[in-house]
Amino acid sequence: MKLFIDTANIDQIKEMYSLGIISGVTTNPTLCSKEGKDFKSSIAEIAAIVDGPISAEAISMTREGIIQEARELAAIAPNIVIKIPMMEEGLAATSVLSKEGIKVNMTLVFSVNQALLAAQVGAAYVSPFVGRLDDIGHSGIEILDNIVTIYDIYDIKTEIISASIRNPLHVVQSALAGAHIATVPYDILKAMVKHPLTDIGIERFLKDWKKLQETTSSIRK
Ligand code: E4P
Repeated sequence: MKLFIDTANIDQIKEMYSLGIISGVTTNPTLCSKEGKDFKSSIAEIAAIVDGPISAEAISMTREGIIQEARELAAIAPNIVIKIPMMEEGLAATSVLSKEGIKVNMTLVFSVNQALLAAQVGAAYVSPFVGRLDDIGHSGIEILDNIVTIYDIYDIKTEIISASIRNPLHVVQSALAGAHIATVPYDILKAMVKHPLTDIGIERFLKDWKKLQETTSSIRK
């Protein structure tokens, strides 16, 4: 399973990309509004930093509007993917755009039926929102798991991005379910690195190494 970072914050993207652990970025209007910067120039900046798919969301509500917005965003850089909400106008727009070779990430997906529809219109990616489903008492991971199973049965090429990840356990569960990608917020990527036994282990190795240096230098004297 690949990891994307779910943020529009340039510093966070640079930091995590420099570790070599992320291979794409997802943004949404909420994440972009937190940064308070011009949308198109932020997307261009991100696309120049990360050599991988960068999702930028279209906000028009009509198919014509979405298509126009998507073409403009796709022209910014070759690695831009257009996020389009799951709705009738979004499906119609995706149908046109996927035939033009513009990659679409169908977003705000909360059911297996919606994921089946995204596949029909040739979406390159589908984003089931695991955390938001959990928030209303449904199992987001169970729905993700069902989408993976059905896509496998029919050999559907649309890649599944486990989105709305709220904790490191969601990442593990997404991987076990067989998601192609998990898009993970910065703080959760940081938490994934940590384990108390790793910290204790590093501290002990450094202490013992120092002891060895002291012993060998006193022998040399
Ligand atoms: C990413 O594609 C989604 O927009 C994002 O993961 C949503 O996360 P949230 O439910 O925490 O807002």
